[in-house]
Amino acid sequence: MSGIVGYVGKANAPEILVRGLRKLEPRSYDSAGMAITENGGITVVKTLGTIAALEKKARAQWAPDRARAAAAGIAHTRWATHGNPSEANAHPHLDASGKIALVHNGILENYRALRSFLESKGSRFVSETDTEVLAHLVGWFYTNDIFQAVSEALRRVIGAYGIAAVSALEPDHIVTAQCGSSVSIGIGVGGSIVASDTSVIAEHTQRIISLDDNEVAIVRVDDVEVRNLGGIPVSRTVPELDEVEEAVRKNGFAHFMLKEIHEQPESITDAIRGRIDFENATAVFSSMDAAPCKISELTRVVMLGCGTSRHAGLAGEYAFEELADIQTEVEQASEFRYRNPILDKHDFAIAISQSGETADTLAALREAKLKGAFVTSICNVVSSTLAREAGRGVYLRAGPEISVASTKAFTSQVIVLLLMALKLGRGRRLSRERGLELANAIASLPDIVRRTLPVNDVAKRIAQKIKDVEHIYFIGRGTMYPVALEGALKVKETSYIHAEGYQASEMRHGPIAMLAQGTPVIALACCDEAERDKMIINVEECRSRGAYIIGVINAGDTEAARHMDEFIEIPATHPLVAPIPAVIALQLLAYHLACLRNCEIDKPRSLSKSLTVE
Ligand code: F6R
Repeated sequence: MSGIVGYVGKANAPEILVRGLRKLEPRSYDSAGMAITENGGITVVKTLGTIAALEKKARAQWAPDRARAAAAGIAHTRWATHGNPSEANAHPHLDASGKIALVHNGILENYRALRSFLESKGSRFVSETDTEVLAHLVGWFYTNDIFQAVSEALRRVIGAYGIAAVSALEPDHIVTAQCGSSVSIGIGVGGSIVASDTSVIAEHTQRIISLDDNEVAIVRVDDVEVRNLGGIPVSRTVPELDEVEEAVRKNGFAHFMLKEIHEQPESITDAIRGRIDFENATAVFSSMDAAPCKISELTRVVMLGCGTSRHAGLAGEYAFEELADIQTEVEQASEFRYRNPILDKHDFAIAISQSGETADTLAALREAKLKGAFVTSICNVVSSTLAREAGRGVYLRAGPEISVASTKAFTSQVIVLLLMALKLGRGRRLSRERGLELANAIASLPDIVRRTLPVNDVAKRIAQKIKDVEHIYFIGRGTMYPVALEGALKVKETSYIHAEGYQASEMRHGPIAMLAQGTPVIALACCDEAERDKMIINVEECRSRGAYIIGVINAGDTEAARHMDEFIEIPATHPLVAPIPAVIALQLLAYHLACLRNCEIDKPRSLSKSLTVE
């Protein structure tokens, strides 16, 4: 089953096309290709075999800056019908002038007659396909109007088609048409996308229209015009993102934040997919193999990020130190460049960002690069500036995160960092046995998270009790300290309650003076027994000052439960992965606090999803 993707817009066209083809990957295909309009011409790359191979070729062809300059592109996965699977037969096909490219699903029944006609007019074909015949036919009719030429050509064909075509001379639009093989169009922000399968479009925009048979559309960056084959306009309104659609996108959840919290079993599965090598008890990240020195010669890990992304770094720090036995520092990206950081090629700098556009993190990455560190990125948004500038990195695959308060991106960031630490550790001194232990713990996370989400009801009940307080303190030890910071940040930004996260034993060095009768202290006691016992001492110190203690504890830990006024039980797991279920409990608590206080949950005041200013 062949598949079509097309894109016109301001983003990196080759990347978007590859990503679209990947969505189509479950359909059978034997070859793939793409064509991009650039500088008055068209560049085509094709491959026999996998989309991964095509992606490699596309990356070699279009360096990030060049890809940005690309205006429009079309791509295709082919399942051979006319002619063997081969690069020559793969789509896109060009017309005789090389200025028009076309991809096609379906079968043209009269292509032999059309081919003979075109050959008699001088056309020379390089493939055995019916599609190349259609490309030449469009070229035959072309007089600087690709829409007109496609319509003329399609009036002469018999058979089924879904097509997309671009002209080098009109790079600001794609023409698409269907008859018996569907194509849909999505109008997004700063770009439009065409595809044979709406799932390709849905991850970019919900403003989707589908064509009917014998309709042709001109798809521009921000609008679409539909006509019939005779050129008569067809009235077709592109749906706006009204409330009904919002509700559909929220999949029945009241807010994106809640939806995204509940998406974590899937986003975590995606973050892990294909990245654990159980046989060697390690992780698979080819980007890390590019280090200028051996992994064993790296002397330091420096993580760069802001807000939640920095908290993920702090949660990962423990794993790097414990497993990889390497000095690790987590830097506030906003301060990093204003110091004079000392870095060289033995430093492994990891820039962490959901959006990949945070100005401070970008500046920190540039500084690390300049100083000669081996840099990599961890981003969610594909093709973001950070991902491109780092030149190598890992995507979170968490899917779009709409809620300003980051939830699923955080858990995926922590997991990717744990896997990186595992890989680094195994390249150094970490034993197979300990590596396998962590690999298994990571692999069990989707299930652990599924079993954690039902704490929603308890979180809601507790939120009801503390919704009117002025201050909340979160305390944690070891890997639970970053979770305390993240819990406090989630509460602050969504419900506007003053909240702070502390290392539990730090309370007695000052913050404990803030505790008054009934002040909530959220104690992250879901750690191993030794840590838990120390935490109980900290808890009792707070309780004796009148604090109202809410514990996050391992399920069935009756000893911890005894010291809490309220508690949320989460599944017990390996200490290095325990931040994941723990933070989910806090995300839910923050969400319900915000709901009960009637806050604008998905778009908190004064905040933006992507902070592109310093
Ligand atoms: C908190 C939050 C922010 C971001 C920070 C960095 O929920 O979303 O603290 O984590 O602005 O953003 P990214 O990760 O896009 O670099």
